[in-house]
Parts: sequence; C-alpha cells; structure tokens
Amino acid sequence: MIALTTALVSLLTLAPQASAHGFLKNVLVNGVTYPAWQVFQDDFVTPEPTRYVRRILNNGPVPDFTTTNITCNAGGNIPAKGIIPVNAGDKVKLIWDQWGSSHSGPVMTYLAKCTPNCASFKGDTGAVWVKIDQMAYDTTKSPPWGSDYLAKQGATWTVTIPPQLAPGEYLLRHEILGLHVAGTRMGAQFYPSCTQLKVSGSGKTELPSGVALPGAYNPDDKDGVLVQLWQVNAGQVKYVAPGGAVWSGAVANVN
Ligand SMILES: *[C@@H]1O[C@H](CO)[C@@H](O)[C@H](O)[C@H]1NC(C)=O
Repeated sequence: MIALTTALVSLLTLAPQASAHGFLKNVLVNGVTYPAWQVFQDDFVTPEPTRYVRRILNNGPVPDFTTTNITCNAGGNIPAKGIIPVNAGDKVKLIWDQWGSSHSGPVMTYLAKCTPNCASFKGDTGAVWVKIDQMAYDTTKSPPWGSDYLAKQGATWTVTIPPQLAPGEYLLRHEILGLHVAGTRMGAQFYPSCTQLKVSGSGKTELPSGVALPGAYNPDDKDGVLVQLWQVNAGQVKYVAPGGAVWSGAVANVN
C-alpha cells in the first residue's frame, strides 16, 4: 500500500511533463521486441525486471549536460540486466513512447565498446563514443529536423549496426536533442538512452576513437548547442550537430 501511494504521488507529480517529453520504450531487432526501462513503472517493481536499456529517472531531459548524467541519462548509469543479441549489419528499430513535434532538433546515435563488458562499463570517461547515425537539419527531407522526422514516423528511428563491426558487447547511445529553448545557455534538452547490445558476426573493424560524453557537448557551442531554433528554420544560421561527424564505417541514415 505504501509503495502504491508513492507510485501514485510520483505519477501525479510528473504528469505535466508526460505530454511534451518522451523516452525510449522498446527496441525491435529481427522481429523481437526488447523493453527499455519503463519510466513511472519499473521503479516500483520488485525484483527489478529484465530490461535492455539502462534505467532513466523520467521522461524529461538530462538536467545538466556537462555532467556524467549526459552519458546514459540521469538514472545512475546502472548496467541493465539484459543484452540484445544482434548481428553486424542488422537494423535496430528504436521505439519511443511518443515525441512532440514542438521539440525540434537532431537525432543522434553512437556506439561505444563495453570494455571489458557491459556489466561493468559506464562510458563516462575517454573518447569512446563513435557517432554511427544522425539526422540534424536536412532541408532535402520533409520535415527537415531529425526529431520531427522521428515523430512523423510514429516516434521511431532505425539505425544499422555497422556491417564490418567486430563482435563484442556495445552500448548503443540513441538521443534526441530538443532545441526549442536552446537560445538560452544550458537550455538545450538532451534525451539520451543506452541500449546494451551483444554483436556477433565476422566483422574485423574496431571502433575508432570518438568523442567523450561528458565533454563533447559544450554549452557555448553556437553551431549546435547554444542556438535559436527559429534562426535555423529561417535559414539565418547553418546548424551543425554536436558530437562530431558520422563515422565513415557506418551506414547512412536509412529513415
Ligand atoms: C544526475 O541527475 C540526478 C537527477 O537530477 C541528480 O540527482 C544527480 O546528482 C546528477 N548527477 C550528477 C553527476 O550531476
């Protein structure tokens, strides 16, 4: 009864956010749906259910993107119980609970090798994150912002595991950056998630050096983080997403 009361209070407290924000809810690989951390539910379930995406606190943005909360979101970056089997070259469909189209910005996905494995790896130090997919502001697409395109696709996004990637355990860090209040310093809203993958195949390519998270997202980056959304939309500012370019070993955006 006490647990139930706590759950209800939490739901009521957080309810206003639910309409605008979102979280990664499921991951679909080769016809199998693997649940992510179910916010507003899983914190109240004992024993902790098997999930394949690391725990997050709620559906809001990372409170401070210069801290270790940016690595795998604010939830402690605790290894999940499950790990999704995939083959190099497979498509991974990332399914959000919903996404509001007012939250425009890029969609970015990175990989980091879990060293020595995902049961211990956090990825919060060193240049371990390699961008494998991105849609930022692409005027050849309709709509041009990655997050709006994701919303149009029913709040889903598909990425390809690089076909030549060496086998091993990896974190897939999939993220939306909402820029609607990014004209204010520290106003950029990052919504990252870390999915645990066990990659098989005969690939021989190890990930190159990438970027550090925290580290790569600079609050004063006027190309990608401290930007006025309307100025990009009006063609006054050329937008460059933070976190560097997509790795040449990755497969281009398939959405
Ligand atoms: C991460 O965010 C949570 C929730 O806001 C906060 O309690 C925690 O102190 C933050 N951790 C860091 C390293 O800033």
